[in-house]
Amino acid sequence: IRARMTVDPHFVVGPIDRRLFGSFVEHLGRCVYDGIYEPGHPEADENGFRRDVSDLVRELGVSTIRYPGGNFVSGYRWEDGVGPRDRRPRRLDLAWHSTESNEVGLDEFAGWLRGIGSELMYAVNLGTRGVQEALDVLEYSNIRSGTTLSDQRVDNGTLEPHGIRMWCLGNEMDGPWQLGHSSAHEYGRAAAKVASAMRQVDPGLELVVCGSSGAQMPTFGAWEREVLELTYDEVDFISCHAYYEPVDGDLGSFLASAVDMDRFIDTVTATADHVKALRRSEKTMQISFDEWNVWYQSRYNEVDKITDAESWPSAPRLLEDAYSVTDAVVVGSLLISLLRHADRVTSASLAQLVNVIAPIMTEPGGPAWRQTTFFPFAVTSRLARGRSLQLKLDAPTYRTERYGEVPLVDAVATFEQDAGEAAVFLVNRSLDQSITVEVEIGQLGRMTVVSAQTMHDEDLDAVNTLADQTRVGLADNASAAISGTTLTVELPPVSWTAIEL
Ligand code: AHR
Repeated sequence: IRARMTVDPHFVVGPIDRRLFGSFVEHLGRCVYDGIYEPGHPEADENGFRRDVSDLVRELGVSTIRYPGGNFVSGYRWEDGVGPRDRRPRRLDLAWHSTESNEVGLDEFAGWLRGIGSELMYAVNLGTRGVQEALDVLEYSNIRSGTTLSDQRVDNGTLEPHGIRMWCLGNEMDGPWQLGHSSAHEYGRAAAKVASAMRQVDPGLELVVCGSSGAQMPTFGAWEREVLELTYDEVDFISCHAYYEPVDGDLGSFLASAVDMDRFIDTVTATADHVKALRRSEKTMQISFDEWNVWYQSRYNEVDKITDAESWPSAPRLLEDAYSVTDAVVVGSLLISLLRHADRVTSASLAQLVNVIAPIMTEPGGPAWRQTTFFPFAVTSRLARGRSLQLKLDAPTYRTERYGEVPLVDAVATFEQDAGEAAVFLVNRSLDQSITVEVEIGQLGRMTVVSAQTMHDEDLDAVNTLADQTRVGLADNASAAISGTTLTVELPPVSWTAIEL
């Protein structure tokens, strides 16, 4: 089979914001404890954070990291996590039926992020709390000194303010599982009040209001419209969350998950622009896709939920999906979808970072390793620079149960004009056929193939595990070649490929 596409730097989607390559750390399972932080580990630094994990996080190339939740944040008291460790309270975490020790909190996490070179995106609790607590954590974190809370931070050992720019106004408040779950009206009013109060402290903050926790929610669409009608002037981003998994073994639909992500983004964009028109606003709302990934949620529901409140464990093994080759291909294709919408999606977070539905896994006292999904993320983050380009794509289609007729090949290209560097990211969704793709690149100027790497395996279910940490990786794709103005590459079935030009 053959597919054709044209890359032309004149057809620009938009500049690629580095925040597109963000991730997410929640106090959930072993993401923080026994994940990024394990004081007794031989690799632990003086603050208890694992150096080997930090190195992998740097290699992954994550920009912004959302923290501390997730569902967890809707019952969280930020002040529990600051000050002397021996005085920090142990709390019930209602979101994950765990016990929270509060050993790690805002100051430790922000300090760790500075070492990583990533930006903190902080979520405030709008489940059990409101305006005052949001103002308090803002004062503690961003005011230099001279007020009670900023001086508390200084006394706690952090002299410089954290300078957090991006703030999430709660988490998934449309979800019935959420502590403090609200109607769109209740949440929209509360978020508007918190946002305008926070802006009195600093008008330059970038604020994210909660969109739907998934396009499958019964209130999807109506929720976005009503929440934005109530908050449009006060916020900069609306969030999207999406998780994908194969349903009833339907790999054809699973491999086309990016079609769903495309439609989701287009719908939220249209809804936001509708509200913009109603308000006669000059401002264009951005999308923060601040939770996305493959997640075998059905497995979690069946086995992982712990219920007895007398014995909620600390840092249990929760949501520890082992990702297959197919999952990595889907993650690569979701990144293609995000890049294709770079004009509106200017922030995104792979959920999550370590152990919990994560590209990086750890064993207490033992090694840290890369899951299959690590590779498409790390390579896309490294190569996608400059601007995202619209492609003219001509590919055969196949029929899916969930999304109808969809192209067998999906792709996006990026171009950094000043350096003359381009990249093409491609996915072959066919379960059994290789596809030869011809890419017309004449408009890019003279190009050579710098590298071409493919994620593919005869065994679609192959995973990296503690026992075999390097079973799956990327392989050089020797078929990628330029002849005249045409780049040709062979894509094996169920594969993801990145070509650096
Ligand atoms: O990432 C896991 C959970 O998924 C988050 O806590 C929540 O926001 C979402 O439902």
